[in-house]
Amino acid sequence: MPRVILLPIIPVMGTSSGLFPAQTGIVASPVTYNVDGEQYVTILAGWGGVFPLLAGEAALKSGKVSNNSRILTFKLGGKDKLPDWKYIEPDLPEPLVGTGNEKQVAAGNALFHRFCSSCHGDKAVSAGVLPDLRYSYALQDETWFDITVGGILKDNGMVSFSDQLTNEQLEAIRQYIIVRAHFLKKAKDKNEK
Ligand code: HEC
Repeated sequence: MPRVILLPIIPVMGTSSGLFPAQTGIVASPVTYNVDGEQYVTILAGWGGVFPLLAGEAALKSGKVSNNSRILTFKLGGKDKLPDWKYIEPDLPEPLVGTGNEKQVAAGNALFHRFCSSCHGDKAVSAGVLPDLRYSYALQDETWFDITVGGILKDNGMVSFSDQLTNEQLEAIRQYIIVRAHFLKKAKDKNEK
């Protein structure tokens, strides 16, 4: 059996509370090791995995997070600090007037949750790993199809859906997201009042 070292919550990188704001989510497990008699704890920090991709609003409960990936190492008496960082809320473009009727938007909702939500979030709410489509300028013109059919972002992990979905279905998804963008706009306007 390897010896398991149980650490107290350590004062790290100059904080004394034992709480460390990592400026991002942490999904990985830490590792601890000893170098020349000094113990270190290292953890991979970064926001990702199925929860923030898929869970939408639920994954935003603890605040807005971006994927600020890095390896953090702690030791007793460590004094370093992370550089300053602040979450910057992106601008929400003025949503287009949706042209979808109720049936089309309902179809778009179902298709979105079958084909897109696993990466872009439940109800089109992204928790900060991949683009939140309600904010996307691609909703506004043919760029929507250049991406979803033409595959112009495939090298970045957004492939064409032309094998799975017709243009009509992709238009229904677009109309659903436009409706979602209007909900967001209303909520933001209300908060600002
Ligand atoms: C396997 C994960 C995955 C799925 C599923 C997925 N996407 Fe994406 N999508 C991505 C990634 C990654 C990007 C970011 C690409 C980049 O950074 O250029 C992206 C970006 C986009 C963008 C550009 C957003 C912007 O303005 O930056 C649009 C539009 C888009 N996706 C639409 C869709 C639609 C519609 C579906 C469902 C039919 C879908 N995606 C399903 C991974 C996915």
